[in-house]
Amino acid sequence: MPSNEVLQALPVPVLVVGRDQRITAQNDGAAGIFEIDLVGRHVATAIRQPALLEAIEAVLSGAAQADARLVVSKHGREVLYDVHLAKLASDHSVLLTFLDVSPHEEAGQMRSDFVANVSHELRTPLTALSGFIETLRGPARNDPDARARFLDIMEREAGRMNRLVTDLLSLSRVEDMGRMRPTDLVELDQVILMIVNALSPAAKERNVEVRFHSDAGQPTIVVGDRDQLTQVFTNLTENAIKYGRKGGTVQITMKIEPMVPVFKGPGLVVTVQDEGEGIDPKHLGRLTERFYRVDNHRSRELGGTGLGLAIVKHIVNRHRGRLRIESTPGSGSCFTVLLPMPDSA
Ligand SMILES: Nc1ncnc2c1ncn2[C@@H]1O[C@H](COP(=O)(O)OP(=O)(O)OP(=O)(O)O)[C@@H](O)[C@H]1O
Ligand SMILES: [Mg+2]
Repeated sequence: MPSNEVLQALPVPVLVVGRDQRITAQNDGAAGIFEIDLVGRHVATAIRQPALLEAIEAVLSGAAQADARLVVSKHGREVLYDVHLAKLASDHSVLLTFLDVSPHEEAGQMRSDFVANVSHELRTPLTALSGFIETLRGPARNDPDARARFLDIMEREAGRMNRLVTDLLSLSRVEDMGRMRPTDLVELDQVILMIVNALSPAAKERNVEVRFHSDAGQPTIVVGDRDQLTQVFTNLTENAIKYGRKGGTVQITMKIEPMVPVFKGPGLVVTVQDEGEGIDPKHLGRLTERFYRVDNHRSRELGGTGLGLAIVKHIVNRHRGRLRIESTPGSGSCFTVLLPMPDSA
């Protein structure tokens, strides 16, 4: 049997089971999995997972090695281990090593959820398009009014697919760049003025007044990617216009915080505040997930893909910034972006 010193030095959880089916040794990693000291106990009482017990049995009764899976519940979530069992030639005991595969498993799950979501989002407008093509060939063939109406809808649905693909590409680009720090010097107040200007038709349509006010008292320069920062504040402002109160105000403010502890230096605080219905606290933690919408129907109706805030979060992360979402149901939401500023130099 390997010495305790060797077991302790291994970076993975390890257990040794003797020929009498009692646990003869464990390292701290294994103690962490089972949360008790198993040494001296019989495996059947210590490990209550039939598949793993069977694998131990198989190796004790002759097999050179075996593999099994172990699921344990930790802090309310399941952790999945690949367990490798090998017979030790010296005394025929079994050495079990545990590999935490939960991150892999979760990544795989996220990938397949993502593909399912994308397919669903694309299928909806596609189904509408196919339906209208059929109608235009058949019942509406000789009806110019219907044709015009259906072509309008088809144009809208094609536009939605286009936006979806553009947003997906943009999300994947932002993810690719995640580790590359941006290097441009961006005058953020200028960027925001431009956005307010560009969104004025959308604001006018909902009779919303967008106000921008900077308390910084100096040009607000951050190290960043100009296009990406434009995307961030465009989406936040557009959301505030779309989901805020019709006829209400959207207030964008900016100020400099001389010392932000997480940055160990100065930061720029930009808030986008609306007077809408607000967001129920139970949604707040999930808003930046891809395709997460509070009100699916309403967001789609407004042409949203549900990817905007996911892109925002990735961009803010790439800038080493922070995104904070606060909302008081009934009186509005406030999205705050905190960006590190170059030291006064
Ligand atoms: N200011 C806000 N007030 C209330 N709800 C909001 C606000 N901003 C976002 N939301 C909710 O969060 C969801 C996600 O926002 P996000 O920007 O990611 O997607 P979207 O606006 O629906 O689509 P896209 O931005 O891709 O056009 C929205 O569908 C909406 O339900
Ligand atoms: Mg949006």
